[in-house]
Amino acid sequence: MNKKYRKTVIAGNWKMNMTASDVREFMSRLSAATPDNKTCDAVLCVPFPLIPALIKPAKQARLGIGAQNVSEYGKGAYTGEVNAEMLSDLGVKYAIAGHSERRQFFSEDDAAVNRKTLNLLDHGITPIICVGESGLQRDRGLTMEHIAYQVKSALYAVTEDKARRCIIAYEPIWAIGTGNTATTAQAQEVCEYIRSVARQMYGARIARSMSILYGGSMNAQNAAELLSMPDIDGGLIGGASLDPGAFARIIADAGQELTRETSSNLL
Ligand code: PGA
Repeated sequence: MNKKYRKTVIAGNWKMNMTASDVREFMSRLSAATPDNKTCDAVLCVPFPLIPALIKPAKQARLGIGAQNVSEYGKGAYTGEVNAEMLSDLGVKYAIAGHSERRQFFSEDDAAVNRKTLNLLDHGITPIICVGESGLQRDRGLTMEHIAYQVKSALYAVTEDKARRCIIAYEPIWAIGTGNTATTAQAQEVCEYIRSVARQMYGARIARSMSILYGGSMNAQNAAELLSMPDIDGGLIGGASLDPGAFARIIADAGQELTRETSSNLL
C-alpha cells in the first residue's frame, strides 16, 4: 500500500453465493466487526439480484456496492443483460470486468473487457479490471507478456482522466479458490509490473495514483503481509469475503501503516 498516492481498496467478490435474505445478517455482523476508523475503501461485489437489499445497510456501513459483471452493450435488444446505466442508477460504484471465471466459462475476451471498461467509466462506475496468468503461462515464463497484453487491451482508448479512476486486480488463475496464494514477492513483482505498464501508457503521475489489487486466496491470515507490499493497494477477495469476521479483519489490516519501502514509492 502507499496511502500517500492512492486509495487502498478491499473488495469482496461473493461470486454466485448468498441470497438477498442473507444480506441483512451478513451486514450486521460485518458492521459489528469492522473498525470505526477504517482507512480503506471497502466494497462488496454481489450478484445483481442482491444489490437492492444491500443499498441501505451499505450506506450505513460506508461500504461501496459493486457488481460482478456488466454488459458490454448499452440499452437495447440484449435479453438477459444488465448495462452500466442500470447499475449506476441503483447506486453501484464499482464493477468487476474480466474476472477469470467469466473469461473461462462465458468466453469474455479482451475486446469485451475493454468495452465493459469504457461503458462503466462513461457511467461513473469504477471498473475493477482483472488480469492474471494461468499456471501453464507462469511455468513457461509468459506471465509478464500475458499481463501486459491484458492490461493494454483493457485500457485501450481509455483517456488519461478516466484511467486514473480504474482499478486493476492481479489475480493469478492458479491462486483463485485454490488456497495457493501467490507469495508476497510474486504478487508484488506483478503488481509493480502492472504499474510500469500503466506508466508507459499514461505517465508516472497517473500510474502512481492507480490502485492495484491482489486477488487469489487472500484471507485473514495472509492479507497483512500482502498489503504491506508497496504496489499492492488492496485485495479482491472471494471465499474469505463470505465470512463477515474474516472480511472485517482484512479491512482492519488495510488500515495498517506501510512497513516495507522500495524504489517504487519514488515513482
Ligand atoms: P478467492 O477468489 O479469494 O476465493 O481465491 C478471488 C477472486 O476470484 O476474486
